[in-house]
Amino acid sequence: MLFRQLFEPQSSAYTYLIACEESGEAALIDPVLETVERDLQLLDDLGLSLRFTIETHIHADHVTGASRLRELRGCKCAVPQRSRAEHADVAVREGEPIRIGALELQPLYTPGHTDDHHSYFIEGRVFTGDALLIDGCGRTDFQNGDAATLYRSVHDKIFSLPCDTLVYPGHDYQKRHVSSVGQERERNPRLGSGTTVEEFVAIMAGLNLPRPKKMDVAVPANRTCGQLH
Ligand SMILES: [Fe+2]
Repeated sequence: MLFRQLFEPQSSAYTYLIACEESGEAALIDPVLETVERDLQLLDDLGLSLRFTIETHIHADHVTGASRLRELRGCKCAVPQRSRAEHADVAVREGEPIRIGALELQPLYTPGHTDDHHSYFIEGRVFTGDALLIDGCGRTDFQNGDAATLYRSVHDKIFSLPCDTLVYPGHDYQKRHVSSVGQERERNPRLGSGTTVEEFVAIMAGLNLPRPKKMDVAVPANRTCGQLH
């Protein structure tokens, strides 16, 4: 498996490239519109053909590069079925792996940040989107988010993976790149080290975060795989 972690600084968002070395087929998890050209250059440099863009959820803070990449490379846009996104080619569901050449990416349904959120597991790595961040987690106060639901998702679907599974988050605002299931289970201040669901719900209720600046543009655009109107 070929793997690259890519960063978009405006939204501090990570995009992940995974590819089958044998077949040269590739997928991008959570591509960002502003960095489509960079992603295409990387695919070309590595001699890969883009088969899928894959979303973890409907993002509120940036517009996906999915539609633009599909226009330019003819790939398929995979979006969680529960996102009900227009123009999606693949409806992602837990239990239905996405095949990228000889690789199989396993969707894990992890709602709570949003009600459509999926994480993805492949070969000792889990891409946790905004469900689990390094020493944190995504907010739960819009897009049908729910703190108790997020607590159960993280504990049942992510913390149940082997300790040495690498955790690759959807964002990091402090230049951290990777964690592990064992590390988050032990020291995530919101969700780890024995924090109860009641404590977690209280932490999330007290955050009082501002609205994402791009939300009014990003959410409608992402509901159509990133086609801007
Ligand atoms: Fe998000």
